[in-house]
Amino acid sequence: DDEGTGSAHAKFILLGEHAVVYGRPAIGMPLPRMWVRAVARVTDGPLLLETDIYTGPLAEAPASFDAVGAAIRNALVHFGQPESHVEVCVHGDVPIGRGLGSSAAVAHAIVEAIRELFGGTLDDDERFELVQSAERVAHGNPSGLDARATRAPAPILFEQGAVTSLDVAFGGVFVIADTGIRGSTKIAVGDVAAYGVANPERSAALLDQLEQLTRDAAVDLAGDRRKELGGRMSRAHAILTELGAGHESITRLVDAAVGAGALGAKLTGGGQGGCVVALVASSADAAGVVDALTAAGAVNCWVVTAAGQRP
Ligand code: MEV
Repeated sequence: DDEGTGSAHAKFILLGEHAVVYGRPAIGMPLPRMWVRAVARVTDGPLLLETDIYTGPLAEAPASFDAVGAAIRNALVHFGQPESHVEVCVHGDVPIGRGLGSSAAVAHAIVEAIRELFGGTLDDDERFELVQSAERVAHGNPSGLDARATRAPAPILFEQGAVTSLDVAFGGVFVIADTGIRGSTKIAVGDVAAYGVANPERSAALLDQLEQLTRDAAVDLAGDRRKELGGRMSRAHAILTELGAGHESITRLVDAAVGAGALGAKLTGGGQGGCVVALVASSADAAGVVDALTAAGAVNCWVVTAAGQRP
């Protein structure tokens, strides 16, 4: 065919971000209503990009597109087309740098579009590796959680590379709120590492606590224990802040959500900006929390079930 298309969705992390970089478990949740879509075509000119932020030759794209370039070039090499010239269009509504997996979703969409363009095949592990190679450019030392969670249709428990689909019968509702501030996962991961070097014992104890909170959260999800899960989310937030992933914009939103009746709230993803996730007992409680988050400065809110759907 003369055109290939690919897509992937956003994700949020319920529990375990940062700890997952140290081999601890984490829970990734699907956000199937937020999409990235890529279209790839063969051209005779140089490699070309068309996105909402930059359109032009890939070689002249800003440094923030390095991971996009890696995804394109590695996919071309993988499908035996290192000399082929392609134009790749990427569009979507996943906000960038807000901890919702935009970089992994973009890489997935590009890899799939190029695969389809050249009629190649990919098994799950090959696909994962191509996305991870782009994530390494974006993040330095990615755990692989985002690369898995942006394709998984259901909540997953991710531990040391292995993925377990979680059987979820959870009635609580999640409110995700965007601080509007871009956080760099790479810098946040580096800051948490620096905290660990300076405070090795404290850091290990905090990572142990995050691990236990994550394991208990998986049981909460399966057993529909909303209040317990909310408490664990708030405890995880305090720990993540102590580890260095916090930011005043996040604290403001977490406090506003809890003040408006949320059962718990935390940063989600890399932190230092980005998004928070709050848990409310039912969709009837969501509107008040959305109002409080908006009043506290959130630029966008999404209300979703554990499956990422509208409640
Ligand atoms: C980023 O979405 C999640 C982090 O745990 C980094 C990673 O898993 O690579 C902060």
